[in-house]
Amino acid sequence: MCTQPVILDSTLRSSGAMEFEEALREKIVSQEEALQAMVNLYQVFSAGLNPPGRPVGSLLFLGPTGSGKTRIVEAAAEILFGDSRAVIKVDCGEFQHSHEIAKLIGSPPGYLGHRETHPLITQEALAATHTDKLKLSFLLFDEIEKASDALWQLLLGMLDKATLTLGDNRRVDLSQTVIFMTSNLGGAEIMELMQGGMGFVQPEDKPATGLDEKVERAAVEAARRKFSPEFMNRLDKVVVFHALQRHQLEEILQIELGRLQQRVLETEKRQFLFHVTDAGRQFLLHEGTDQRYGARHLKRAIERHVVFPLANLLATEQVRMGDTLCIDWDKRVGRLVFWKQSAEAASVTNRLNPKLAPIQVVGTAGGRSADAPAIVKARGAASHK
Ligand SMILES: Nc1ncnc2c1ncn2[C@@H]1O[C@H](COP(=O)(O)OP(=O)(O)O)[C@@H](O)[C@H]1O
Ligand SMILES: [Mg+2]
Repeated sequence: MCTQPVILDSTLRSSGAMEFEEALREKIVSQEEALQAMVNLYQVFSAGLNPPGRPVGSLLFLGPTGSGKTRIVEAAAEILFGDSRAVIKVDCGEFQHSHEIAKLIGSPPGYLGHRETHPLITQEALAATHTDKLKLSFLLFDEIEKASDALWQLLLGMLDKATLTLGDNRRVDLSQTVIFMTSNLGGAEIMELMQGGMGFVQPEDKPATGLDEKVERAAVEAARRKFSPEFMNRLDKVVVFHALQRHQLEEILQIELGRLQQRVLETEKRQFLFHVTDAGRQFLLHEGTDQRYGARHLKRAIERHVVFPLANLLATEQVRMGDTLCIDWDKRVGRLVFWKQSAEAASVTNRLNPKLAPIQVVGTAGGRSADAPAIVKARGAASHK
């Protein structure tokens, strides 16, 4: 007997995966392929379909410096585990010699200093991020092109069998762990291609044809030249990150100012709001754009021109809880200037000119928007009466 077939939608993702994707998009600009790789991984894991006896996933991120390779892992940790630092991070450049490998896995019993070495990768450290709902851990090997041979051997073993044997012979099970690896290999080639591509005057309806493919091929070829086939064949996926363009840096500036506002709101005593005018943002973008360093340079510009002055203002008590600061570019002095609005004036300005409203705080640890501190809300409300 034939039953009526029911056509299923195999592209539909669970609400958990969709929420994860949305939260990740609030934190990560562009890098669509990386984003999809993360969401797919999450969906496969939550459906319980990750392969037994292997890590949950093994992803290699390639591409230029400051394009978000490390940040996407931290952002995912922030969303899933509530803390961007809930990642065991191995900076491969720091584990060049055999005694440094001991810092990673501990030294064998009987060795001098055996008791003092606390291995970085242990079952307990991995389990620290587990909750009743999500038994998952992140292990990140950053800048693997700097790894020593001994570290490579460890890494190959982990990818293959999802286990790591510590110095004292204890075994660490990595079958609930995602292994991320990043490398800046191919970054220079990508920059060259991008600059070549952007240098052409393209008709608007015709984007630089094949540029993305060329960029990807260049990065993957650089990785194949450097890394053994044995290693490349064990990876689930290689994702190439793209160099960020001006409008993308603009979005990152917005996100970073939001994170800074969040930090200010988390200070103990002097929570205040600030907003940066359009001219102020343009100045920061101008100061923070350097193709060689991607968004890293932008972050430095924010540190230098916003964080340090704000720290001075806080430390000298020139700003108080509930204040609203305006940060503007003053061409007469050639730098950003900071001025304080009274809470009442700020609320009136904000109503009259929503563009000047304090920047929106995007994404807290839980993925929700942050609220203004109680006192700011109370004063704002009072002045509306
Ligand atoms: N695509 C992106 N989306 C959001 N922020 C980014 C992105 N790329 C870089 N950043 C910002 O720049 C900083 C440096 O990026 P990072 O991920 O460490 O670079 P790398 O690709 O060299 O690992 C991050 O901490 C983040 O603040
Ligand atoms: Mg990095």
